[in-house]
Parts: sequence; structure tokens; C-alpha cells
Amino acid sequence: MTYIQVTGGKKLHGDIEVQGSKNAVLPILAASVLHNGVTTIHHCPEISDVQCMIRILDSIGCKVKKEGSTVIVDATQLNNYRIPDEFVARMRSSIILLGPLLGRQHFVTISYPGGCTIGARPIDLHVKGLKRLNAEIIEANDLLTCMTTKLLGTEINLDFPSVGATENILLAAVLAEGTTIITNAAKEPEIDELCAFLTCMGAKIDGSGTGTIIVQGATSLHDCEYTVKADRIVTGTYMAAVAATGGKIILRGAVKEHIEEVIEVVNRMGCVTQASSEGITVIQKSRPNAYDLLRTRSYPGFPTDLQSPVMAALTIARGNSILIENIFEARYKVVKELVKMGANIEIDGKIAIIRGVSSLHGASVKAYELRGGAALVIAGMIAKETTDIHSIEYILRGYEDICRDLRMLGATVNYIEE
Ligand code: UD1
Repeated sequence: MTYIQVTGGKKLHGDIEVQGSKNAVLPILAASVLHNGVTTIHHCPEISDVQCMIRILDSIGCKVKKEGSTVIVDATQLNNYRIPDEFVARMRSSIILLGPLLGRQHFVTISYPGGCTIGARPIDLHVKGLKRLNAEIIEANDLLTCMTTKLLGTEINLDFPSVGATENILLAAVLAEGTTIITNAAKEPEIDELCAFLTCMGAKIDGSGTGTIIVQGATSLHDCEYTVKADRIVTGTYMAAVAATGGKIILRGAVKEHIEEVIEVVNRMGCVTQASSEGITVIQKSRPNAYDLLRTRSYPGFPTDLQSPVMAALTIARGNSILIENIFEARYKVVKELVKMGANIEIDGKIAIIRGVSSLHGASVKAYELRGGAALVIAGMIAKETTDIHSIEYILRGYEDICRDLRMLGATVNYIEE
């Protein structure tokens, strides 16, 4: 097995290009099956979740070509109604194929989704929304069988602005008859990107990026070409890294409008950030300041995906910080690994109290999920000794090459074959 070895104690300096967004590209790839033609998607990140989605598309009859970071999907002929279990177990995002496949072929079966181990992650809002669009969904023996004679547009109010449920409903609505209005919709930038992609395919959508999205059902779509924007969570991870180690980094392609709240947070931790059309520069001259109370929230609030990377930086802050995790109940699995490295963190339900220590020390630790894994890489860069991070398959789900990126910024980070 491969693990990541980090020898810390260095400041980060340099510039890197930020990879394309994982959470944008996955629903966009799923959306490609809506059209019986060709879609070309540029700036796709080279991550295992994208490979998994490509293999799913392949398994249902799409012809998929990869040319560098461009993925070309020819979905002219689909030939399978069942999403293979091996992919579904590996990636929760496979659930977003329900909406487009119902729209395109009126029938689809899928087993219950797997994915990162960050809580119960129910799919009730997806199922409820699709049922409202006239789908019949039978849940039996861990299998969802979804069918419809015809999807019909309607008004759907989400009990919670779930990102995945908003995407699934949106994708189903594109080929439904009539108008669909989604209220209390998620406002994350990835929803906006999905709407931009669907519009480029010929869908008619209003209200993207707001809590009310209106979709006029279309009867056909057309070939299109789309470039995925920079990943705001990867951007934020590297911002947290420099907030922890000190130094000056330039994140090329990073979109300021997608991470206003994160910029605010790292600035309060002592960083100076400058945004330009080229990207974002982050400078940190001292040990990070503590953050008195940081809550994760739906967009535009502080993202749950950056809670662990920022927590890693706060372990060595001057003073005590409090984090409240409001989105996923099991997102503190990284804490016991950080404690092994000398962090002083106490958990009480949703609340984490982080008492800043002067430094961390190297240890052998394990990733339990994607962003917690990235947090351990940051902790490794803080510790002066060597840290070995195991179970890195989680990290590879979302970071194209975290070692390459951080080495370009001057860190000593390598993959080691066991
Ligand atoms: C997406 C992101 C993930 C991010 C999360 C929140 C992708 C591939 N993943 O995940 O990185 O952390 O948004 O920004 O885009 N919920 C229900 N019922 C449902 C669906 C969700 O109760 O049917 C709950 C979840 O358990 C969770 C909350 O809603 O507590 C947020 O989940 P959701 O917004 O759906 O996140 P995902 O789409 O799974």
C-alpha cells in the first residue's frame, strides 16, 4: 500500500494552478447522459472519483474518451438500466445519476450509495423530490428501483438545501414535461456550475445560485463544450496550509467569489490575501491567530469540507478556538489522529474546542475520510519530524496530486510504496 510521508517545519512558497472542481465535475459528468450526443468537458481533475464516474458512464453504454484533462462523453446509445454495485459502493455521488437517467430512459436501478464515512448521509430528499416529479421509487433489499411513464414538472420545496438533492431534482427536471420550481435549493457554486453546463446543453434554467431555481422542461438538448472552474475546497485546503506553516503562495485560477467566507476566516487567522483575475495570493507571516467561534453552514457560509483543514491549522494557533460542525455529524474522526500528533482538542457533540499548542510532532496516522486526510497532511507540514499518513485512497478521491502541489510550494511530501 502507498502512504504519504511528510517532513514538516518549512514555510510554503511558490505558485500552483488549482485543479478543476470535484463537486462540480461529478454532476456535470452525470448530466452528460441527458443528451443523446456528445459533451466535451475541459479541466476535469485527475482524481479517483472522476475515474469512478467515467467507469459508471462506460458501464451504461456511453463512449468516454479522455484527452489530458478533457473528458468527451458520447451518450448517443445507452444500454443498461442498472448502475453496477461496485461503483455505487465506492462513490456516493453515483446517486445523482438517478435524475438524468429517469429523464433519459424512464427506468433505473441502483443500490444504496456508499462514499466517504462522514455520517449517516440519508437520501430521503432525493427520493422525495424525484417522486414529486412523477417517478415511482421502490426501496427493497438495499436496492432503489425508479421508474416513470413521464416526468412531470412541479413545485418542490426542500426541507434542507441539500446539494445532492438539488442536483438530482434539477437533472430530472431538465427533460420533464412542464415547469419545475425548486425552493430552498442549495446555493453552492457547484449548483451554479451545473446550471451553466445544462444551459450550455440547451436547458432553460432561471434563478441559478439563488434559493429558487426554475427549470422549463426541454424535449431535446445539443452537443456542448464546458470548462470546469477551480476547486474551491482544494483552494481552501492550501490556504489553510499556508495559514499553518507561514509563507506566501499564489493559487492560480482560484475564484475569489466562491470562497469569500474562507478568505475572511484565514484573514482573521493572520493571513493577508489578495485576489486578482489570475487567482489568489495568501501570505502568512506568523503563527496563526485562534478563531473564537467558527461554524460550518450551507453556502455562502463556511464549508464543512474545510472544517478539518482549518482545524489542523488552529492546533498551533495562539489561543483557543471553537468549531461547530453543523452539516455532517461524523466529521471529527480526524481529531484522534491530530491528538496523536500533540494537538489539544476536546469534542463535545458538534463542538470542538482546540487549545493551541506551540507545535505538533510527527506520528503514524490514518485518514478516515477525504478532507480529514488532507488535514493530516497539513498537520504533517506543521510537525518538524516525519509523519506517515496511511489509507490515502480517501485523499486521492478529491486531490489530484496533493504531494506534487505541496512539493511545488516547497514542502517535503512524498508517496512511499510500502
Ligand atoms: C455535497 C458535497 C460534499 C459537501 C456537502 C455539503 C458533492 C459530491 N459532495 O455532499 O463535499 O460536504 O455537499 O456542502 O458535491 N441530507 C439529508 N437527506 C438527503 C440529503 C442530505 O438529510 O436526502 C443531509 C445530510 O445528511 C447532511 C446535509 O443534508 O447532513 C447536507 O448534505 P448534502 O448537502 O446533500 O451533501 P452532499 O450532496 O452529500
